[in-house]
Amino acid sequence: LKKLYPMRTVYLNGEYVLEKDAKVSIFDRAFLFADAVYEVTTVLKGKLVDFDNHMKRLKRSMKELHFEPTLNEKNILKFHRELIKLNNLEEGVIYLQVSRGVAERDFAFPKETELTVSAFTQKKDLVENKSAQKGISVITIEDLRWKRCDIKTIQLLYPSMAKSEALRQGADDAWMTQNNYVMEGSSNNAWIIRGKTIYTRQTDNLILSGVTRAAILSVAEELGYKVIFKQFTTQEAESADEAFVTSATTFVTAVVKINNHRIKDGKPGVFTQELRKAYIKQALKTLK
Ligand code: PDD
Repeated sequence: LKKLYPMRTVYLNGEYVLEKDAKVSIFDRAFLFADAVYEVTTVLKGKLVDFDNHMKRLKRSMKELHFEPTLNEKNILKFHRELIKLNNLEEGVIYLQVSRGVAERDFAFPKETELTVSAFTQKKDLVENKSAQKGISVITIEDLRWKRCDIKTIQLLYPSMAKSEALRQGADDAWMTQNNYVMEGSSNNAWIIRGKTIYTRQTDNLILSGVTRAAILSVAEELGYKVIFKQFTTQEAESADEAFVTSATTFVTAVVKINNHRIKDGKPGVFTQELRKAYIKQALKTLK
């Protein structure tokens, strides 16, 4: 592991251990089948942003995969807070993973496994962020993922390939498309603005319903913007007035180039900047 962080204390199955001591079985279904779900929760001012909505989505993901519903939300909140404290985290994220657990390798779901629950912190500059200040460039790439992207599983190889291809082409990220319609970013939701209207794709089984996306919808409404839930094409995105992505790690980050098309003057748009500001303000109200 590249030493990005000083030795952290991480959480594994009820215990706080140094990251070097956190060990999971090679028979864990996360390792063998990517049979695990996750959440990434923002930390600002040493507190959790939108925690309740992350828990709601986690429960849904687990239910869709028929995991034993044995997780206790209060306990999850407790160890999230404890990790923040133990690692002196002011700003960044907590990654939480819940795996179906350890069982002999078999495609069928095993009966009554104990969930493997792990979590760790990552320190990041989220508010004063260089990418957000400059905006990012994206390429579009065919969406070759499975058709249950509404479940937040750790099966992330294709998004990882897509992002790596974007970097190889000198861009920052990839927007994945199906039949020329933009679905979402490799790890964020995609939005465009044309005139005074904001467009974001409707949520269904093909994209993740972002916690940040939901927050932006209420922020946009408060600011009096019109939002239309409709998928848009690559060309509509390329010729948009503004474009941006949303996620727990990017908040609202302007997209200033799509493929070889500069979005307007190539700088973060006015509405996008306003939404980012309003989102951060709103996020600070949800701290837990
Ligand atoms: N990704 N779409 C995809 C495919 C994602 O992976 C994510 C989040 C989102 C945005 O969801 P939210 O607003 O709840 O963060 C949309 C996280 C940040 C990740 O994998 O690191």
